[in-house]
Amino acid sequence: MKSRIYVANWKMNMPLDGALELTKQCKKLMAHQDNKEKQIVLCPTFPALYPIAKLLQSTPIGIGAQNCSEHEMGAYTGEVSAQSLSQVGCTYCIVGHSERRNYFHETNEIIARKVGKLFGAAINPIICIGETAKEHKDNKTLQALEQQLDPIINVINNAEQCSDELYIAYEPVWAIGTGKVPDKATLQTTFNWLHAHVQSALQPAKSVYLLYGGSVDEHTVKDIAEVQYIDGFLVGGASLDFQKFKNIVSLA
Ligand code: PGA
Repeated sequence: MKSRIYVANWKMNMPLDGALELTKQCKKLMAHQDNKEKQIVLCPTFPALYPIAKLLQSTPIGIGAQNCSEHEMGAYTGEVSAQSLSQVGCTYCIVGHSERRNYFHETNEIIARKVGKLFGAAINPIICIGETAKEHKDNKTLQALEQQLDPIINVINNAEQCSDELYIAYEPVWAIGTGKVPDKATLQTTFNWLHAHVQSALQPAKSVYLLYGGSVDEHTVKDIAEVQYIDGFLVGGASLDFQKFKNIVSLA
């Protein structure tokens, strides 16, 4: 079992040349990384996946896409299937990021179908869930998480094929890119619930990694890492700067 996972979500912030440069730096970092159980996963844009997979061949660094189609194949202009992602070397894929839910109107049902397609292509989904600022203010965080999680857990429980490892990233929408992070006690309550809920709802029990995302950087990561049941981080802004990402990996 890996000790921790660090997922770099570069979003649409890195042109191809920058992405390749950053990948080379991460490759060097892993060569000098003492703790080989720390798993790094880089998630560039679609066109960068294949050249990055080539660069990282025979290294332990994982490659992830930021999205995939809910369909297997067919007349869906502009979509990318899970099978294609697997063929270019992806072993992870982020699904249900709040930016996809907000800007591209992805529902829990669409996200659940994507998870099913990823299982079929032997890709580990990194499933994002998180409450909005309003839900947070109204004390409805756990309710919102349950609503997002349950259709996906249903797919997992009924899937013929399912990855051995599941990744669930809790990302409060109000914490993404804002510099705000939930306080430690609140985070602990949320992760206690997530851990218990996932363990009891998944049949049979699987190896589940719970990640936190939302303004993770070299200043916030140490405190966040003290919260029990956090197995890793989904890092946006700070993963675009090699030095900052390196500090996150070494500090937590
Ligand atoms: P952030 O983004 O680290 O810039 O807050 C996290 C994410 O959106 O996954």
